[in-house]
Amino acid sequence: MNSDQENKAFHEKDLAWNKADALLALMSLSEKLGQLQQLDGGISKKALPQLIEEGKVGSVLNEANPMLIAQYQKIALEKSRLGIPLLIGRDVIHGFRTLFPIPLAQSASWNLDLVELGTRIAAKEATAVGINWTFAPMIDISRDPRWGRVAESPGEDPFLTTQMGLAMIKGFQGKQQYKDGNIAACAKHFAAYGLAEGGRDYNSANVGERQLREIYLRPFLAAAEEEVMSFMTSFNEINDIPASGNQFLLKEILRKEWNYQGMVVSDWESITEMIAHGYCKDKKEAAFKAMRAGVDMEMASTSYNEYLENLIKEKKIELSQIEVAVRRILYMKFKLGLFENPYPRTKNTDSILSNPHLEAAKQAAMESMVLLKNKNALLPISDEVKSLAIIGPLADAPHDQMGTWAFDGQKADSQTPLKAFQQMGSKDLEINYAPGLKISRTKDHDGFGAAIEAAEKSDLVLYFVGEESILSGEAHCRAHLNLPGAQEALLEELSKTGKRIVLIVMAGRPLILTDLLPQVDAVLYAWHGGTMAGPAIVDVLTGKENPSGKLPITFPRAVGQIPMYHAKKNTGRPATEGNWVPMDKIPVEAGQTSLGNTSHYLDEGFRPLFPFGYGMSYSSFAYNNLKVSEAKMTVASTISVEVEVSNTGKKDGKEVVQLYVQDLFGSVTRPVKELKGFQKIFLKAGEKQIVPFEISSKTLEFYDADLNLTTEPGAFKLWIGSDSNSSEFVSIELTE
Ligand code: BGC
Repeated sequence: MNSDQENKAFHEKDLAWNKADALLALMSLSEKLGQLQQLDGGISKKALPQLIEEGKVGSVLNEANPMLIAQYQKIALEKSRLGIPLLIGRDVIHGFRTLFPIPLAQSASWNLDLVELGTRIAAKEATAVGINWTFAPMIDISRDPRWGRVAESPGEDPFLTTQMGLAMIKGFQGKQQYKDGNIAACAKHFAAYGLAEGGRDYNSANVGERQLREIYLRPFLAAAEEEVMSFMTSFNEINDIPASGNQFLLKEILRKEWNYQGMVVSDWESITEMIAHGYCKDKKEAAFKAMRAGVDMEMASTSYNEYLENLIKEKKIELSQIEVAVRRILYMKFKLGLFENPYPRTKNTDSILSNPHLEAAKQAAMESMVLLKNKNALLPISDEVKSLAIIGPLADAPHDQMGTWAFDGQKADSQTPLKAFQQMGSKDLEINYAPGLKISRTKDHDGFGAAIEAAEKSDLVLYFVGEESILSGEAHCRAHLNLPGAQEALLEELSKTGKRIVLIVMAGRPLILTDLLPQVDAVLYAWHGGTMAGPAIVDVLTGKENPSGKLPITFPRAVGQIPMYHAKKNTGRPATEGNWVPMDKIPVEAGQTSLGNTSHYLDEGFRPLFPFGYGMSYSSFAYNNLKVSEAKMTVASTISVEVEVSNTGKKDGKEVVQLYVQDLFGSVTRPVKELKGFQKIFLKAGEKQIVPFEISSKTLEFYDADLNLTTEPGAFKLWIGSDSNSSEFVSIELTE
């Protein structure tokens, strides 16, 4: 079958395409153009009902009022000539009213079932008000924590991001039926948005095609194969062409190569922003270039509606191009079942903030937290602790713990750590609360006195630091990644009290903790944990829940090391311990070539502060008997590699067992380690389990210099360990 035949066969299987065709045949040009338009509910409230009635709107975003949505759908269905329902789009990013941890945090759980459950819950709550389409998952590989949107991403790794993205798509879309509480998902932002120069949002991405495919496109290819119902283009230009007019990305790769049938929406005004990019001289050219590339729906701006008709008359755009776009949009509406009943699923209102939803959000928050330091097993808090000082601007910050993209969350629903400790209501535990700083950016020291006093009269200090939610997310990038305001100054004062200190970090990105670590006994990285962050943190600190999160992104020692990620290249002069001289040890007037000449920083070395995949538990896990079923394999064969993991501690716990691979020599150079599998397992204290992974040619494949996804015969190393730094490996050989 050629690809046209394949397309036809694909369509014929699915009646929604036939229905879309039948409807398309009845539509006027103006109605067709109307379907391509997505309008903001906020700015056009007055005009909107009229436009809907005239068939000039295909979709509305940023409207979550069920009465208005019902009204708009009624107009669309009953008053517009052809009765076409609206797609109601919304950024349901990490929960709807019940907020789950930010996506980066959820990725730290490495628990795909939990992530899928979280998105299913978000979808169900969203349908209660009439939302039928979310702009998620965001699957941009993010290796620069200065970039604010790192909070929204699953982190630095293509494999982990792919798995997280698929779990989210499954959770949101289910069987793609709006009536069952499913909503359409959207793979965004296509593409390489996370590669923004210097971590400055919206900035240019420059990347060779091999790396583009190997790293940045992998999660999107998987999303297309999973039949995600839509894609969103990105704001950035990539190799000098803005994504929303990028024929190579949208036509060549997405449509021709991947045969993607779903709908592509632009990002917010990203079509007309091609003027500021310097790629289009006016809105008309922007409409032309976006339609030429294959953007089906225009978000917020109106260049399609203003200029496509003329562009057709001038024969620059063919009517058939527009019909292809309309057909995809109609297909999505039929597929979701909106023509039968597009109204808010009010029966789902009862599920909003229901106990099962809050419990799932709490479990997600608990499994997202990463224990980074625990000197002398200070945590979990022991019974000997009779008084706690609760200090810091994030201890009772119901708004900030919701994180970025919390449009539908309400701070009154947030349960904070302070409140959760107070509600524990133990007579034997005195709580001394003094925030020290009002918000994370506070620079004055007015509250220090009370905070120090609280510390002095307590057995243990819990210092809740981090970032307000507004400091991460879209356009909220930072050049310094230390704790803002006077939080570090307060830590210094607290550490002078000689009390043991637990640092709980609530933030939207990795922060630089290098100088803070020596001043504290324990560090729990809790991110922005959502509605249930408080009770979740309390259960982890008190040991009701054993921490099991692992870093989905490398934590650098200093901003100057960025980008730092585990799947790096070796270079011709790799640094190792001992082959470089730290700056303060360099002899005076040392000879130019006497320092080792390897790839490192004189002042910060070559290692991160915490590697990708790292995270401690209250238990300990030993890895033994790493072995492969066969040391040789062919492209057609599958072998297995396994390890015995034992819980050698005294507490039951979960462990994320991680598989890494290195292809030692290739026609193109390969990273020192790549994540290729993981399993989150539960082991009771003293229990052990053999954890196997299958290795097939799929595990070993990569894009070669000619951009073929292939394997090459040769030697590979396989590691199974508890983080990306594990040293135990086995060798295998792939033969012809
Ligand atoms: C963001 C998108 C988002 C859209 C709609 C844009 O600014 O980049 O991720 O879905 O707004 O709110």
